[in-house]
Amino acid sequence: MDSPLHQQRQALRQHMRRLRRSLSESQQFQASQQLAEHAILYSVIEQSQRIALFLSMDGEINTRPLIARLWHLGKSVYLPRIDPTQPTSLLFQRFTPQTNLVKHRLGMFEPEENADEICSFTELDMVIVPLVAFDSTGQRLGMGGGFYDRLLAGWQKTSVFPIGVAHDCQHQENLPIESWDIPLPAVITPNKLWQWPDKEA
Ligand SMILES: Nc1ncnc2c1ncn2[C@@H]1O[C@H](COP(=O)(O)OP(=O)(O)OP(=O)(O)O)[C@@H](O)[C@H]1O
Ligand SMILES: [Mg+2]
Repeated sequence: MDSPLHQQRQALRQHMRRLRRSLSESQQFQASQQLAEHAILYSVIEQSQRIALFLSMDGEINTRPLIARLWHLGKSVYLPRIDPTQPTSLLFQRFTPQTNLVKHRLGMFEPEENADEICSFTELDMVIVPLVAFDSTGQRLGMGGGFYDRLLAGWQKTSVFPIGVAHDCQHQENLPIESWDIPLPAVITPNKLWQWPDKEA
């Protein structure tokens, strides 16, 4: 657990989280608007109907402007919830302007439980994932829970397309990688669409 690689990843997480939290309110606002404007023009999003997203925290790029645009385009938006029957897994629940959000014990908001609105991972067209850092090969470093690595393991065998969203400053040339890390085929930032076609299905 406390291997040099683990320590290096932890130090990098701290550094990158501090960096994204240090963006001013107006930088954060502008970045989030720009991200939303670019993302809806991205062909994979245009072609997707069921799109999972996350609600931002800890300086993450604000996904609310993108969610609002997706709703406006008639897309179905889903948010992750920790699966109560299997707390290492995520499940997805429909998110509409009418959905009640409740504060989860880890501090994030999630949709109030409604079994009728659950969608399994493989029924999604696209999952937009959070990240702490990403590199020039599509590798990602998350918050350290392994939730998205477990979720995305074998995604190429499904019809779900994962993409990351992040501030431009979350890019690092090369991340220290573990064997279980799942790289992304695309990352959208306010200023760039990163794509790694060799990681597509
Ligand atoms: N496919 C998997 N099966 C079982 N455990 C896994 C799997 N993928 C990752 N893990 C475990 O999850 C833990 C955290 O992984 P890691 O440090 O890569 O998290 P992360 O990618 O930063 O987090 P997240 O995926 O939640 O954004 C590790 O201890 C790892 O063993
Ligand atoms: Mg990982």
